[in-house]
Amino acid sequence: MQTDIGILPLKMEGQRLLLVDQRLLPGSLEYFDATAFDDLCFGIKAMVVRGAPSIGVTAAFGLALEAARQANLSVGAAEFMAAMQRSAKVLNATRPTAVNLRWGIERIMGVLERALKERSTQEAASLAFDDAQRILEEHIESNRAIGEYGNKLIPDPCRIMTHCNAGSLAACGWGTALGVIRSAHFAGKAISVFVDETRPRNQGANLTMYELTEDKIPATLVCDNMSGHIMLTKNIDCVVVGADRIALNGDTANKIGTYNLAVVANYHKVPFYIAAPISTFDATIADGSHIPIEERDEIEVVQQAGQTITVPGARAYNPAFDVTPSSLITAIITDRGVLRPPYTKSIAAALADNFAMTEIK
Ligand code: MRU
Repeated sequence: MQTDIGILPLKMEGQRLLLVDQRLLPGSLEYFDATAFDDLCFGIKAMVVRGAPSIGVTAAFGLALEAARQANLSVGAAEFMAAMQRSAKVLNATRPTAVNLRWGIERIMGVLERALKERSTQEAASLAFDDAQRILEEHIESNRAIGEYGNKLIPDPCRIMTHCNAGSLAACGWGTALGVIRSAHFAGKAISVFVDETRPRNQGANLTMYELTEDKIPATLVCDNMSGHIMLTKNIDCVVVGADRIALNGDTANKIGTYNLAVVANYHKVPFYIAAPISTFDATIADGSHIPIEERDEIEVVQQAGQTITVPGARAYNPAFDVTPSSLITAIITDRGVLRPPYTKSIAAALADNFAMTEIK
């Protein structure tokens, strides 16, 4: 679905949860039915849906559907919650780095737990579904806010580098890093973007190039190993990327290769910005050393587009994320404003009123 906020990664059709199959873009736009719980887990693990905020929103809808199914089995409240805890655990294990997954699950589980104190399992499931809808709306709004705050940091003209895909497909709305780029472009600034292809899954080539092209934002695709040369020769003004998890000191996990880009940007004195919603902060960890790094199948490295690109039997290592130390981050653009060092202080202030939003009205 193409909207004025970009392409949303999911939609509900009645009781069916449909995900844009991001594995097929830009070649074809098809939906994957993630209504059944096993299909939901597969969809997240196999990256039918990907990008930290979109994973969190999808998990919220998926868990609300699971709650409706469990409620229809007409089990008692205790049995219902035990079944939901088991499902939450399975879902949470599908992708370990993006904290938004846990955030979305915890929020829905919180709604169920509070509702069950005075309501039936069916009513609790229905409130969970309302909250999933609210989470989606909040993300659309928060993407916009990130775009507006971020736009203030973008000069005119501006040459931007980005990595992976942090657009509306990844963030449910305007986008985080791409939201900043979109806001600057639609504010009339002369923006051009260098897009890392983002091996091994090529989210930059497949998805970011797709979103920028749809919006007619000038974009140039580059290989991941070109960033040093590009910083040296192309007068890059800033780097803007998304995040999968941000620790309380600002250390940030994002797609593998982000750290390389941050080091190169730092060497060339190019501002390096992270753009992320509040749901990407992990208030339980002091620094990036506690962030679990997902390791994916080596087949993603030894093959490209289904073709083996190395010797038969070659071994490969496939960490899906890296952690950029906060000392390399110029600012973190959030939906609650632009955070600057010292991050322990600015992040604590931004998170201060975080938990008020989960109350059932
Ligand atoms: O493995 P992916 O494609 O889910 O990784 C996505 C990223 O690393 C994004 O940059 C991040 O989730 C931010 S999306 C707004």
